[in-house]
Amino acid sequence: MGYNVAIAGATGAVGIEMMRTLEAHNFPVDKLKLLASPRSAGKTLTFRGQPMSVEVLDENSFAGVDIALFSAGSGITKRYAGACLKAGALLIDNSSAFRMDPNVPLVVPEVNPDDAFEHQGIIANPNCTTIIMLTALIPLHRAWGISRIHAATYQAASGAGQAAMDELAAGTRAYLDGTPFTPQVLPHPYAFNMFAHNSPWIEDEGYCEEELKMRNESRKMLHLDDLRVHATCVRVPVLRTHAEAINVSFRSPCEVAQAYELLRQAPGVKVLEDRAANRWPMPTDVSGGEEVVVGRIRRDPTLDHTLDMWVVGDQLLKGAALNAVQIAELLIQDPSRLPSQAGSSI
Ligand SMILES: NC(=O)c1ccc[n+]([C@@H]2O[C@H](COP(=O)([O-])OP(=O)(O)OC[C@H]3O[C@@H](n4cnc5c(N)ncnc54)[C@H](OP(=O)(O)O)[C@@H]3O)[C@@H](O)[C@H]2O)c1
Repeated sequence: MGYNVAIAGATGAVGIEMMRTLEAHNFPVDKLKLLASPRSAGKTLTFRGQPMSVEVLDENSFAGVDIALFSAGSGITKRYAGACLKAGALLIDNSSAFRMDPNVPLVVPEVNPDDAFEHQGIIANPNCTTIIMLTALIPLHRAWGISRIHAATYQAASGAGQAAMDELAAGTRAYLDGTPFTPQVLPHPYAFNMFAHNSPWIEDEGYCEEELKMRNESRKMLHLDDLRVHATCVRVPVLRTHAEAINVSFRSPCEVAQAYELLRQAPGVKVLEDRAANRWPMPTDVSGGEEVVVGRIRRDPTLDHTLDMWVVGDQLLKGAALNAVQIAELLIQDPSRLPSQAGSSI
């Protein structure tokens, strides 16, 4: 059985990876629709060796579509969600539009696959840093029960889209050439620099929005309303792939050796390190790969039942496009849960 799939935001950093992931996973696509803004009208992308024209996203884009992968920002999701649902397509969204809506499951297939089947037409993909963190932590949570997380993130330009990647490259070139460069996409000069995450600062909470996403989305997916999560998110001048230093406390005693064992066996996770050579996972090891890569697991001697670990993940893939396609793969295991196959019962 094949499915008609649409990608809204197909020309973006995530949309391109969605198309590549559908192809790499041999997802059963009957027809693919590539949708973007009027800026991309007439642009051609290649899927399974065939050139395909990008169409302009509008209210009529979803006729006959079974699964719509959205990756065009939360404003676009909110604007077109109604049309998508009305057409009977399942909406899998990468933006923050519906993540905290109690009627919308927020899903990482390795973490809370059952939640996906509770959908009412929309499933949300979590924030990239949260996906990467929880994919690595879930095997440990199942063993010992997480009670507290402290994360410091080192986030790549690609997390802010293609334009930010282009700006990092152009800013670096200008810096090396000694020519003036004014950033247009990110708020500060990025080349040979770093700055606190550029999402809005929420004065009442004392966190930026990205840090709150890590807390709130983790609570929702783990079904732990009072989970203690404290994050500091930083943009570093890396083109692609986020890294996270995670300090995690458990309700019961934990073991470093067992943590490695659990992570070696966990789906979607890889351990990569050479202790003798002081060599740990780096973005250049991980970019373009599907696994979240873990190393440098240590006991934290300052807190009971606490481990420290270094986690690196390609946020365009597992942090966005791959996770969305994996949600679609999960749903087609039971096609009766697709709105287009179930009539109006969903
Ligand atoms: N980058 C990441 O790592 C990441 C991770 C998780 C979630 N996300 C989320 O995924 C979404 C896309 O991110 P991105 O990084 O791929 O951004 P991007 O590279 O800037 O791409 C944005 C996409 O949205 C399309 N778009 C913009 N305005 C539109 C409109 N009015 N109508 C139709 N399409 C429109 C763009 O089309 P044009 O090319 O025609 O402008 C482009 O295809 C955002 O919601 C982001 O928060 C991103």
